[in-house]
Order: sequence, then C-alpha cells, then structure tokens
Amino acid sequence: MINMIKGDITTLKVDAIVNAANNSLLGGDGVDGAIHRAAGPGLVEECRKLGGCPTGEARITKGYRLPAEWIIHTIGPIWLGGSNEEDRLLSMCYKSCFELVEQNGITSVAFPSISTGAYGFPIERAGRIAFKEMCNFKSNHESIEVIAVCFNDHVYDCYRKVMKETR
Ligand code: APR
Repeated sequence: MINMIKGDITTLKVDAIVNAANNSLLGGDGVDGAIHRAAGPGLVEECRKLGGCPTGEARITKGYRLPAEWIIHTIGPIWLGGSNEEDRLLSMCYKSCFELVEQNGITSVAFPSISTGAYGFPIERAGRIAFKEMCNFKSNHESIEVIAVCFNDHVYDCYRKVMKETR
C-alpha cells in the first residue's frame, strides 16, 4: 500500500527523502531549494564531491539538519512533449531511487512528484508512472514504507485520481 500525504517533504521523519534535483546536484528552486535550505551548507559540500548526476539516475547523501537520515537525489526528465524518452527516464528515476533504498537498508522513503514542477511533466501522466514503479517495488518489499508527498491540493487531487485508477 502506498501512503499518500500532503505536506512539505523536508519535515518528514523518514529514513530517506527524495530530491527532484538537477544534473549539477548543486541545488535549485522548488523542492531542491527547500531541501538544501533545510539541510544546511553541509549538503552542497557533499554534493560537490559527487560531480553531478545524469538524468534518470540517483545519488545518495546524508540528510544533515533534516529529520531524514538520507537524501536520495534524482534527476527527472524535462517535459519536451512526450516523444523524447520522458516516460522511460521518469520510470528510471524511481527505479534508481529504489536501488539505493535497497542498497542502504532504508525502511521508509518519501518521494515528491518528480519533474511535475519546473520540469513541466504533466502531473497525471507522471503520477501513473510514479505509482506503477512504487507498486512494483512494494510488491517485493512489503515491509518498506513508501510515501508519495504532494505539496499542494492540485498535485494531491491528481495523485488521488491516479491512485484510484491504479488500484
Ligand atoms: N515538499 C514536497 N514537494 C515539494 C516541495 C516540498 N517542500 N516543494 C516543491 N514541491 C513539489 C512541487 O510542487 C512539484 O509538485 O515538488 C514537485 C517537483 O517540482 P520541482 O521542485 O519544480 O522539481 P522538478 O519539476 O523536478 O524540476 C526540477 O527545478 O528546482 C529546480 O534544481 C531543480 O532544476 C531542477 C528542477
């Protein structure tokens, strides 16, 4: 079962929160900016050493001043109309994050709605991809808590609609 909540991912006391970052990993606006602000300057120092991250992949860092112990940074695709591998790359983001969840013994992970803000990915389409990957993972890892975090009513309502379809 995927938990879906409305709120600010930086406040969640879970093992890991996922950041919708950019290829540089050096921070930005949106959830990326919120996470870097809340984590403090130590985060960007660690990120600098990672040398960036390709779209669709993920990297893990400590959580610093966040309640979460870890941050998993993933780079979503920029929406270019849908015929530039956007769906495949977004699926890859969730898969890459779940690989790091398994490798690091993480038992609870919260995801923002990757790529649906500045990167312009249509929310319902992104939600269907997110829930498909989350349900796939949960079916083989029932004990790991997976949370979809919606920052506003629009995302929440879209996600709820998709979740009902996906069940
Ligand atoms: N908690 C949870 N979700 C949040 C938060 C927050 N504090 N702040 C924003 N969001 C939501 C947005 O409402 C959106 O639904 O995260 C989702 C992703 O939006 P963005 O943060 O804009 O991320 P994305 O669309 O993937 O674009 C990434 O934006 O900030 C830059 O450096 C980042 O270049 C990268 C790009």
